[in-house]
Amino acid sequence: MAKKSDKSTEEVGQASEAQIAVHWREEGYYFPSAKFIGQANASDPAIFERFSEKNYPECFKEYGDLLTWDKYWHTTLDTSNAPFWKWFVGGKLNASYNCVDRHLKTDRNKAAIIFVPELEDDDTEVITYQELYARVNEFAALLQGFTSLKTGEVATFHMPMVPELPVAMLACARLGIIHSQVFGGFSGAACGGRIADSKSKVLVTMDGYYRGGVLQDHKVKADEAVARALEEGVVVEKVLVFRRNPGEYASKSPMVPGRDFFVDEIMPDYKGKLVEPVSMPAEAPLFIMYSSGTTGKPKGCQHSTGGYLAYVTGTSKYYQDIHPDDTYWCAADIGWITGHSYIVYGPLSLGTTSVMYEGIPTYPDAGRPWRIAERLGVTHFHTAPTTIRTLRKVGPDEPAKYNYHFRHMTTVGEPIEPDVWRWYHESVGKGEATIVDTWWQTENGGFLGSTMPALHPMKPGSCGPAVLGVFPMILDENGEEVKAGSGKAGNICIRGPWPGIFQTIWGDPDRFVATYYEKYNRNKKSTDWHDWPYFANDGAMQAADGYYRILGRVDDVINVSGHRLGTKELESAAIMVDAVAEAAAVPVIDDIRGHAVEMYIALKPGFSPDGVDEQVSRMIETEIGKVARPKSVWIVADMPKTRSGKIMRRVIASISNFTDVGDITTLANPEVVEDIRHYVQSEKVAHGEQPRELSEAELATIKGFGSAE
Ligand code: WTA
Repeated sequence: MAKKSDKSTEEVGQASEAQIAVHWREEGYYFPSAKFIGQANASDPAIFERFSEKNYPECFKEYGDLLTWDKYWHTTLDTSNAPFWKWFVGGKLNASYNCVDRHLKTDRNKAAIIFVPELEDDDTEVITYQELYARVNEFAALLQGFTSLKTGEVATFHMPMVPELPVAMLACARLGIIHSQVFGGFSGAACGGRIADSKSKVLVTMDGYYRGGVLQDHKVKADEAVARALEEGVVVEKVLVFRRNPGEYASKSPMVPGRDFFVDEIMPDYKGKLVEPVSMPAEAPLFIMYSSGTTGKPKGCQHSTGGYLAYVTGTSKYYQDIHPDDTYWCAADIGWITGHSYIVYGPLSLGTTSVMYEGIPTYPDAGRPWRIAERLGVTHFHTAPTTIRTLRKVGPDEPAKYNYHFRHMTTVGEPIEPDVWRWYHESVGKGEATIVDTWWQTENGGFLGSTMPALHPMKPGSCGPAVLGVFPMILDENGEEVKAGSGKAGNICIRGPWPGIFQTIWGDPDRFVATYYEKYNRNKKSTDWHDWPYFANDGAMQAADGYYRILGRVDDVINVSGHRLGTKELESAAIMVDAVAEAAAVPVIDDIRGHAVEMYIALKPGFSPDGVDEQVSRMIETEIGKVARPKSVWIVADMPKTRSGKIMRRVIASISNFTDVGDITTLANPEVVEDIRHYVQSEKVAHGEQPRELSEAELATIKGFGSAE
């Protein structure tokens, strides 16, 4: 039996996501075309039998066999140190070899990466597999010769969307150096915290990159990052700086002698050098990817070499339906897990052509993505609902103007509203493309929920059933299963491990167990995977047809444009402002970004509120990055609190979203609620905000918010 929640009703709030009965209007099915089915990698339903529970975990041999191994594994899944799962034990391989070298024999001069710079007049850069091989080897030789990095150590990257990023990732992989790429849009301070946590001696960055047509100064963030890492006790020995435009320097920040080096200046010593790929155990970490959770510090999700690569290769084949001669464009940023798995490792492992675009999709106008698609003959398009909503808003008729034809499209990262899905299908996909709505997380390595594109009908707003070999269940707070078709939501959990699951939180195995497994663990000593359901921290419900609808996070994470922001991180940044005594971050429904952040601030006695809102916003930008900039900062006299002194985020979230605040009789200070409501809502209305009725999914997020601690 899973353990019961030990929180009082007062602290959890009246309605957690799991308790909300959700009544959906069920959407109708859309079917893939006969043409699509005819060419799909998986078009025989026998595949479901091969991956059925009775064949688990050996079914994943099929994914492992998509890779080239130096040494074959002896044990597919080892659960002896649960929940630290080990996949393909005994096997040895190199990820860079699998993504590059093994394609040379037949596809040496096929495009591996096509880089599209943001400035439309700049030329597209085509990097063949042979050229990628040369560049990866040279950069690996440079890492080996010019830095002190050794196999098993971590290098932090703070790179924009340029081909140097996958080159550097694959160069690390070649040497068994663990890469930790921090999203380029994050601040220097955020990067520095991650350098310190992973104890990186080397930072790889670029002087600048284009965004909205403007060359951004990015190197300045490296200086901030190194300074922050030093404050946290970690010395960065070398900063390797690529230059966006050869022979020019995009930054005003001086190069620090002895620490900062232009890659193009040191590269001549390594030109043409080859480096043998290091044969790594399947269980060796390939990379770390930081992500937000309930508590303050971002978690370094550690991914394995063999299990991860097998999983992204398998899911790229069957769910992305990638064929070697496709031109596949995933418009995510490689700074997120989607980019790692479905721009770099999955597509390149399958030997296809992966398109990378540097800038924002609407630059210089909303026709840009479709011009790229037309010019390059893109066959697959993969993006997030936020981008789809933006493109629909600013250029609903643009897709029709261009002669491109997608065969397959993906949506990822947030729930997609059915009418946004339909625009994606009809306008972007021209009614021809098969869509997969893929649900998964940084921690998961690859997809967990999706339709199989040729074998399942699509249903707008639902990700579909679980993917091959993944067996979810929805549990309520007491560990009871919430049945499919019951109309009730609960916490989605995965019953057994899959090869792409992360290995641990870097340097914090206790937090790994506590965050993902403790809640529903049946026996801490058990080495049987059945006793260790993976708690995904997402609310979900399952329709009678078995399709899952993901409602969003049940921990205190706000999903802004598909970026995970922890309330604790936002609040810690806000209280760094002198005048701030207390801060609370809540999500507000946003028609483009899904959610936006609103901050509530209580001041220290004697401080003036003047300018505090801008100081809070700026501090959040400095500590986290522009993506986290709050939509509004509300300065209030007092926060609504429980008798034990906890801020009731659910109540302020309801105020920000114009929804019913629910039962507040258990608060220590219920009288403040009406004051805050009046102040915030009249300001909003005065600024032209139109309250609108929220969908059930939106309501579930707001009502369940703040119940996780
Ligand atoms: C949300 C992104 C609805 C979910 C790959 C999850 C989704 C979080 C979907 C992970 C989807 C992701 N439908 N919600 N198809 N995909 N999510 O770690 O709340 O950046 O927990 O990984 O995004 O975000 P992350």
